[in-house]
Amino acid sequence: MTTALITGAAGAIGQAIAAALGATGMRLALADTDVAALAPPANERTTIHRLDVTDEASCAAVVAAVDGLSLLVNAAGIMVRRTALETDVATFQHVLDVNLTGAYRMAKAAHPALAANGGAIVSISSTHAFLAAKNSLAYGVSKAGLSHLTRLLALEWAADGIRVNAVAPTVVPSAMTADVLADPGYVDRKMAAIPLGAPIAAAHVAAAVAYLASPAAASTTGQILVLDGGESLA
Ligand SMILES: NC(=O)c1ccc[n+]([C@@H]2O[C@H](COP(=O)([O-])OP(=O)(O)OC[C@H]3O[C@@H](n4cnc5c(N)ncnc54)[C@H](O)[C@@H]3O)[C@@H](O)[C@H]2O)c1
Repeated sequence: MTTALITGAAGAIGQAIAAALGATGMRLALADTDVAALAPPANERTTIHRLDVTDEASCAAVVAAVDGLSLLVNAAGIMVRRTALETDVATFQHVLDVNLTGAYRMAKAAHPALAANGGAIVSISSTHAFLAAKNSLAYGVSKAGLSHLTRLLALEWAADGIRVNAVAPTVVPSAMTADVLADPGYVDRKMAAIPLGAPIAAAHVAAAVAYLASPAAASTTGQILVLDGGESLA
């Protein structure tokens, strides 16, 4: 039996991914800075870990504590809704440190185990990676970086038997988006921009992650699977 390590596992998307991967029979290692918010282990196949993806030692310690690691899911992330001029450099660097460098730290720490176990990485990027949205400068840059990190790692690590892919959803109801989804004006504008007319369910993100992690996707690496209800078509 193999193990999936999920960062940001206390978040709405992380929880949905845990449910989807748990249903496939994988062991789960749930990791987050906010361990109190992690769901208690549902069974003996689940472990929980305090993790700060901005801390290289923390990343290494969590990876070392996980047996049989075959899947890394990078779902830890933060959003700061500020324009370019409102964003100070320290904030810009912090958002990149969590969303981009954090995924890189985790990927490097996990590489030996993933290479040994024929593993995969799936990261949660965003439509912000390729659609320029106002008021989220650092976030958009971090997700653009995460998408390209995905392609570069896929290229470099294919020879090690590691597939690297990402999922890029538009807005998903979660703590990260509770503020904007409580704003009727935002909801009206956003739903008008999404041809399918609905936010993306965390369960749909999880299903995409489960597919990319599965043997059914054995031919797929370096890809960004967009879940945007058609937002990027027009
Ligand atoms: N909600 C959306 O609309 C949406 C859309 C596209 C992509 N995403 C991405 O999906 C991922 C999950 O987001 P979510 O919507 O579930 O948000 P969320 O805020 O519910 O979850 C994010 C989780 O990341 C954890 N985290 C933050 N900093 C961390 C760190 N330094 N180390 C470890 N864990 C840390 C938080 O404690 C939290 O549990 C994020 O990467 C986010 O950018 C979200």
